[in-house]
Amino acid sequence: MTLITNTKQEKIVNYGSLQHSMQVEKSRDRRTMKCLVVLQICAAVVTMLLISTFYLTMYPSNKGKKHTPSTNPIQKDNIATLYAIHPTRHSFCFRDGKNGGIIINWAVYNRCNDLDFNNYYAGNFTVGVGGGRAGTIIDLGSRDDLQKKYQYQETVGHGQGYASIHRTNKTLLILKDSYQNHTFQAMGESAALFRDTSSSFSVRVILGHVYALRIIDTYKHKSERVVKMLVLAYQPNESVTIQWKILK
Ligand SMILES: *[C@@H]1O[C@H](CO)[C@@H](O)[C@H](O)[C@H]1NC(C)=O
Ligand SMILES: *[C@@H]1O[C@H](CO)[C@@H](O)[C@H](O)[C@H]1NC(C)=O
Ligand SMILES: *[C@@H]1O[C@H](CO)[C@@H](O)[C@H](O)[C@H]1NC(C)=O
Ligand SMILES: *[C@@H]1O[C@H](CO)[C@@H](O)[C@H](O)[C@H]1NC(C)=O
Repeated sequence: MTLITNTKQEKIVNYGSLQHSMQVEKSRDRRTMKCLVVLQICAAVVTMLLISTFYLTMYPSNKGKKHTPSTNPIQKDNIATLYAIHPTRHSFCFRDGKNGGIIINWAVYNRCNDLDFNNYYAGNFTVGVGGGRAGTIIDLGSRDDLQKKYQYQETVGHGQGYASIHRTNKTLLILKDSYQNHTFQAMGESAALFRDTSSSFSVRVILGHVYALRIIDTYKHKSERVVKMLVLAYQPNESVTIQWKILK
């Protein structure tokens, strides 16, 4: 294909140059022809490159989409430690997983206080205390409490219950029977969590307990965050380490 077009091009160039002037040197003519051929080869190479990059970038992503199960992506493991006497880390922001406070010009400011540890109420988690924030936090109990209440099968490590908690609209869901069946049931605590009034905004910190919390930013309308968390480590008056996940 390229060869044919090349010769055609060559002819056109020849006739064109003949018509315009006969004084054009033969060597010059040849040089322009060479240039054109090189240009055409370059164009072909560029086109090939463009096509191959298109396939390389588009094809694997399409393939990936086909094979990824839409309901069960691998989850990021979010773990954070809050320190009671840390100037900016006694509170926590779930939006970006960073300190609730910030130090600017040698002063502490509230940046995004979604969850406070120990400072508003000793030994408690407190939500909805930052500027423009309201919130509800519910202690769902220990992992054993959850298993007893909802009667699903746990596996070694007792992680299935916490892992399975998710939401659809205003209902929290937890595992039903076995994780292999992939069926879920509504949690009785859903109504309390999504109730408008923040009746429960402060709860005791207990090692191994699972919590559900909902934070509303009243400055930004409709800005709501629903989070589940599990207390992994707790030193009273010192620090608490949580595993957490935003429930969309
Ligand atoms: C969730 O809410 C959306 C719109 O508000 C609705 O279309 C959908 O059916 C709801 N899903 C469930 C499971 O209730
Ligand atoms: C899983 O579901 C099947 C039916 O679909 C049922 O027979 C089985 O008992 C379930 N497994 C458990 C552990 O409940
Ligand atoms: C701390 O949490 C407990 C429940 O766990 C609650 O009864 C108590 O009122 C909370 N403390 C304050 C000062 O709100
Ligand atoms: C934590 O601090 C409070 C107030 O400073 C104190 O009353 C409480 O006994 C302390 N708790 C522990 C476990 O040290």
